[in-house]
Amino acid sequence: MMTTPPPNTESMEGEVLSARSIVRSYGNSPALRGVSISAARGDVLAITGPSGSGKSTLLLCLAGILLPDAGEIRFAGRRIDTESEAARSALRRHEFGVLFQFGQVVPELTAQENVALPLLLSGVRRRPAMTAARSWLDRFGVAQLADQRPPQMSGGQAQRVALARALVTEPQVLFADEPTGALDSLAGEDVLGQLTGVAREAGTTVLLVTHDAKVAAYADREIVLRDGMVEGGAVSAAGSAGAMSVGQHRIYT
Ligand SMILES: Nc1ncnc2c1ncn2[C@@H]1O[C@H](COP(=O)(O)OP(=O)(O)OP(=O)(O)O)[C@@H](O)[C@H]1O
Ligand SMILES: [Mg+2]
Repeated sequence: MMTTPPPNTESMEGEVLSARSIVRSYGNSPALRGVSISAARGDVLAITGPSGSGKSTLLLCLAGILLPDAGEIRFAGRRIDTESEAARSALRRHEFGVLFQFGQVVPELTAQENVALPLLLSGVRRRPAMTAARSWLDRFGVAQLADQRPPQMSGGQAQRVALARALVTEPQVLFADEPTGALDSLAGEDVLGQLTGVAREAGTTVLLVTHDAKVAAYADREIVLRDGMVEGGAVSAAGSAGAMSVGQHRIYT
């Protein structure tokens, strides 16, 4: 007997994260109208589409920050959209890294303290947390900024600090929403090259939201959203290249 696969579902070997038939509205206006995507370990995936197409909403749902109205989100085979806020928050602390357009670095903390923060919040002691933070700053070429505070940094420098902070817990998935949107194109390409380079080295899965085709070229795969639906995927050439909250959404609790 032939089995029919469930509709609107992509699945693949080594799947780390998947969304199936995600529906999400804000009040009466639908933002996502049945979105299914799947990402394997080490995938660098670009989510593109016009403004208002639902990119950020999808990312927030995938990261367990926003709950879908319908559909399923799975991480490592485990259904996460039905889990408690505490469980999802723990997931974000340990398995996920997040990076947004404005890195949401804490202005009162030094670069090194900013990067150490997710470790400190997970109970790592100050000394090892600060040592790890230092090495991540080094990795992104901003070790010299360790003792500086964000107001003394350029946008590109601050974003590298935010990137180091997003990766310091060595997450399985990095969610990045327009991570270079606030940078000039040179600084943006620099940060992107480092982001994708380090992620590829570490086998981190990356979901990169952007409306910029140049940014999408750094990804292995592109998913295009339009009016809350997946329009179609295209294979792109592989490139060489908060406080802890976003808006009203808390990343870590
Ligand atoms: N907090 C909110 N309250 C009400 N409506 C919202 C909210 N956030 C998003 N929307 C609406 O949901 C739809 C999808 O928005 P979303 O922010 O996901 O789009 P986007 O693709 O990320 O756009 P952009 O490229 O401008 O960032 C839009 O119609 C938007 O107006
Ligand atoms: Mg957006």
